[in-house]
Amino acid sequence: TNGVITIDPGFKNTGSCESAITFLDGEKGILRYRGYPIEQLAEKADFLEVAYALIFGNLPTTEQLETFRSDIKKQSVVDDDIKKILDAFPKSAHPMGVLSSLTSALTAFNSSSVNVDSEEEMYRAITKIMGKFPVLVAWTMRKKQGLPLNYGSNSLGYVENIMKMMFEQPNETYEVNPVIKDALDKLLILHADHEQNCSTSTVRIAGSSHVGLFSSLSTGISALWGPLHGGANQAVLEMLEAIKADGGDTKKYMAKAKDKSDPFRLMGFGHRVYKNFDPRAKIIKKAADEVLNDLGVEDPILEIAKGLEQEALNDKYFVDRKLYPNVDFYSGIIYRAMGIPVDMFTVMFALGRLPGWIAQWREMRLKKEPIGRPRQIYIGENERDFVSIDKR
Ligand code: SDX
Repeated sequence: TNGVITIDPGFKNTGSCESAITFLDGEKGILRYRGYPIEQLAEKADFLEVAYALIFGNLPTTEQLETFRSDIKKQSVVDDDIKKILDAFPKSAHPMGVLSSLTSALTAFNSSSVNVDSEEEMYRAITKIMGKFPVLVAWTMRKKQGLPLNYGSNSLGYVENIMKMMFEQPNETYEVNPVIKDALDKLLILHADHEQNCSTSTVRIAGSSHVGLFSSLSTGISALWGPLHGGANQAVLEMLEAIKADGGDTKKYMAKAKDKSDPFRLMGFGHRVYKNFDPRAKIIKKAADEVLNDLGVEDPILEIAKGLEQEALNDKYFVDRKLYPNVDFYSGIIYRAMGIPVDMFTVMFALGRLPGWIAQWREMRLKKEPIGRPRQIYIGENERDFVSIDKR
């Protein structure tokens, strides 16, 4: 501090706003959306209900949910020219980079969603992105798989529709697999919001300049892509695959994770706020067993993950630093069992986090929060005169 400004790297001890959306207690491992415990939501609600509660404040009545659903359905077509942008990407492009570009590009086809100031204009922009984002997610995956870019069906529910767009095979009638539908509902609910995490803070600060919702969301997708944040779910699977290829030598990776000279971290472990078990990880770990069992999928990676967890929970380095499995540790095992490619895992995180980002952006705009503009402590050169290049 310089007596006036206090520097707080990573904002570990800085509150950026007051919010009524999500409550979490890192010591007790508590997570609630609008006061509803996620354990109950994950068991009893569906994703669109939870999205409604996050964005508008309460679990919806039947009528409110039906109105929301039908307003979204009216907005679930994407301008076909978006395909030209998608075509420009090489198949090797990472889906998160594609998705953030397409999300920002939506602004070009929906100019009315840029300067939204009234609640009505916000609502229209919200239903637009809730309808169009799943299309972008599905098309991003199918483009890489060389599959036709398709639509779902408005006769299906929100998550079933996403499944049809993602998994439908040409020449086959798509059947919704109830095991996958339930697991996807649960995973999307568990990823839906998490107060002022890195990507949500990014959406808030971008949105505080009053750039439109789609552009603000695009910045959140980029922040989420980082391996320290949502990108960890992909990094976990790659790490577990490497351990498997190394004959299951978890001790080698534990040693690397503890070696300060080695940049390697045990991916899917640790959390800025949870200094106890991430409550989402508990639910996802249980769901992983159930889903793989119900799908009849044997995945040795799950046993390696459990072995790694056990070792870390008994290792002084991890215990001293209160490093426990987080939301990203087991989720990829379920996504893989669903047939989702590993480089799409963080896209699935973004699909779940969409309503949370929207809710936080809406709260920030409705509260008319000032533009985010932190200060600094200058530690550079004192004043000095220009020197011509021949004298440098
Ligand atoms: C998400 O914020 C959110 O809510 C995020 C999220 C959400 O829903 O939005 O919950 C989603 O991003 C979950 C986190 C996914 N990331 C990973 O799994 C990547 C691995 N985890 C770490 O990089 C780390 O734990 C963070 C980024 C999650 C948290 O980092 P912090 O709070 O800045 O902690 P830190 O880096 O200061 O670490 C404290 C100590 C350090 O050791 P010392 O310097 O004290 O000796 O713990 C060590 C770190 O080196 N450490 C790890 C570790 N995580 C922290 N050592 C090895 N492996 C790890 N995973």
